[in-house]
This record gives sequence, structure tokens and C-alpha cells, in this order.
Amino acid sequence: MSDRETWATRPGFILAAIGSAVGLGNLWQFPFKTATNGGAAFVAFYLVAVVLIGFPAMLAEFVIGRRTHVNAVDAFERLGHRQWRAVGALAVVTGFWILSYYNVVGGWVLRYILGSARGAYFADPGGYFGAVSAGPEAVLAQALFLALVVGIVALGIEDGIEKATKLMVPSIVVLMVGLAAWVATLPGAGAGYEFFLSPDLGTMVDNAGSIIPFAVGQAFFTLSLGMAIMVTYSSYVGGEDNLITDGGAIVVTNTLVGVLAGLVVFPILLTIGADITSDTTGAGALFVATAAGFGSVPFGRLFGVVFFGVVLIAALSSAISLLEVTVAYANDNYDIPRTVLAPAVGVGLFLLGLPSAWDTAWLTWFDSFAYQVFLPLSVLATAVFVGWVIGEDAVAELREGAGGIGAAGGVWLWTVRVLVVAAVLLTLGLGINEMFLVDGADFFAPF
Ligand code: PFF
Repeated sequence: MSDRETWATRPGFILAAIGSAVGLGNLWQFPFKTATNGGAAFVAFYLVAVVLIGFPAMLAEFVIGRRTHVNAVDAFERLGHRQWRAVGALAVVTGFWILSYYNVVGGWVLRYILGSARGAYFADPGGYFGAVSAGPEAVLAQALFLALVVGIVALGIEDGIEKATKLMVPSIVVLMVGLAAWVATLPGAGAGYEFFLSPDLGTMVDNAGSIIPFAVGQAFFTLSLGMAIMVTYSSYVGGEDNLITDGGAIVVTNTLVGVLAGLVVFPILLTIGADITSDTTGAGALFVATAAGFGSVPFGRLFGVVFFGVVLIAALSSAISLLEVTVAYANDNYDIPRTVLAPAVGVGLFLLGLPSAWDTAWLTWFDSFAYQVFLPLSVLATAVFVGWVIGEDAVAELREGAGGIGAAGGVWLWTVRVLVVAAVLLTLGLGINEMFLVDGADFFAPF
């Protein structure tokens, strides 16, 4: 086992975790899930899910990582529960699965930066998306994106991930604020804000059953839960950070960037008169509808480059956190340097991502499976472990360095034990129901 690194600074940990949380989940999925699930009603459920379920579940992952200072699989053994290593393994597999297709979308983003500069998609946004999102070109772009991710992770925690995210996270926030200010001047801005921000009580009540599982799933995904990321990142925390305030800063910043994404995307879509509830469905949401917007507003090329540039930075700072999960596991267990491990894991990811790069139907399938099965199962198992198996020990770890707010430890424990577990069971049940009973055989035959 090699000497384990730690974050050089406390903001280093917080920024890296924000970098992980802020990603395609905020900029790509959040706007289109909002559009197809009732607009502001979805946003309202999502915010509640983030605070009541996502935040406590994130603290549960932090507790495991910081207490053990080891990768997400061996952590369970170090806590004295060897058989629970399976839960860590599930989280690692979940992360590997998700990263395989995330790289493909990262590749699309690379293409869209170049495409924006040339105005390549202005004439036919749908046709352009079809050409770059699947087949050999998508495979090549996937490989390029993956090479960037591998390069950063190979440099290590302090010199790679920490340095990169210290630069990336502030850039994302500043550029998103700039973009939001620009789109505020577009004629469709008012209608965009209205759709995004004023929930319709009727829609909320009528569709609660179908919206809630999406809102909870989105909360997990956007906070990078259930993928062993937060366990791994917190395992590099050296000192006695206050996990509660660190977690709060991460959750708040992540939510703000998601809201900013909506404030950027919806005014553009309503300015060009897109039919937002259908144009934005599916994988092409950001790429087709938003790109069409850049094609018809002043300075569209410039703003297209900036917008997709932000999306690229956000996707990269998330993807590195997920590659780090597997690299940390291998690095803790074998005496192989990360300069060898990162590319080796990268090859495996590339191969698993090939179907998604070849055909977007596979990408959608991989994504649905992750959302409806892997993620909720993994979050559920972790919550049961922290809440019911280690219980009071977890509270003691949370209280280390937490000062006065540590008093909330008891409330947190019961939230994890009851609320998180119940919410995940509900999501899992509804998700499996949809996959097997509603979609039935169709789900397993994407073509
Ligand atoms: N929170 C991340 C996001 O919203 O994009 C989730 C994530 C996905 C992290 C894929 C890392 C990753 F590779």
C-alpha cells in the first residue's frame, strides 16, 4: 500500500467535492427533467429532496470516508464489518457504470465547443446532433474526453484533482452568472423564469407520485451520492474539518449552479419559441434545443462557446471524481502507481462506453438503469449501514470537529434511519415498477 495523500487545504476538499457535484446533472439533466416533469413543481420537490434526503445521505458517506481514510470498499472492513464490503463494491460498480456513458456525453460537449465556434449546428441543430452523438465520431470524442480525465487523475490528489478543481469551480460560477445576466436581456426571459420558478400547486398535487421519484433520483445524482465518490473524497480529509458545514457549502453551491442553469437555459428556449416540454426530452435536450437557441440570438457563437465551455469544465471536474474512486481502490490495495492505474481503468471505461457512443438508445438505457436500480440500491444500502449498523459511532464521527452544530447529530441519525431509507425504498419501488411492469420487455430491448 502506498503512502496515502491528503488534501493540502480544507477549501481543497470542499472545492473538489463541489466540482464533483456540479456536473452534467446540473447543466444537462436538471433543466430537461424540470421541463418534462411539470416545470417549477419539479423544482419545488427537488429542493425539498436535496435538503431532507440528499444532504443527510451525503453526511453518511463523509462519515465512512473520514473515519477510515481508505477506499470505499475497504472502508467497511476497517469499520469492523467485512461482509458489508459488498455495499462498497456496489457503489464502485455503480460509479464505473455511470462514468462509462458520462464520458460519451463529455465527448459531445467537446464537439459542441468546436461546433459553436464555427456555427456548425446553426442551420440544422437536430441533424448536427445526430451526426456527432453516435457512431465513430462519438467514439473518438469519448476517447479525447477520457484522456483529459485520465491525465488529471494520474497527477494525484494534490497536484491533479485539487489544483484543477480550485481553478474550475470558481470559473463555472463566474461564467454561469455572466451567461444568466446575458440571457436576462433576451425577449423570452420573463416567460422562461415563469416556467422555471412559479410552481403550479395543481400540477404538484396531481403528479406528486410520478414527480417525486425523479426529484429524489435527481437529488442523489446531482450530489454525487451512491457512487462511492463522497466516501473516497472524504477519505483524503486529513484534519478535523467540520463535515456538517462543509457538506452544507457543497449542497448550497451545487443547488445554486443548478438554479443558474435553469435561469440560463429556459429564457433561451422560450426566446426561440421552443416547445419546451417536448423539444427538451431525452438525451438531446441541451444539445438540440439550447444549441438551436444559440443559432438565432445575437453573438450566438460566442455564447455557445462559453456555454459549452462551462459544461465541459463541469463535466470534467465530475468525471475525475468518479475515476478517482476506482483508482483509489486499486492504489490502496496494489503497489501500482496512479500513472499506470488511471490509464488502465480508462481503457476499461472506454470499452464499457462503446455501446453508448455507438447509439444513443444504449446511452439512455445505461442511464435509466443507473437511475432506477443502481443508484437507489447503493444509497439505500449505505443509509442502512450508517443508520442501523454503526449508528452511534457514526454520530460520534460526525461530531468530531463539528463544534456546536454537532448537537444535531441525533436528528441526523434518525433522518438517515427513517427518512432517507423510506424515500429510497419508495423511489426504488416506483422505478422498478416502471422498468419491469410499465415498460416491460421494451426496457430490455432498446432497439
Ligand atoms: N453530480 C454529478 C453530476 O451532476 O453530473 C454526478 C456525477 C456523474 C459525478 C458522473 C461524476 C460522474 F462521473
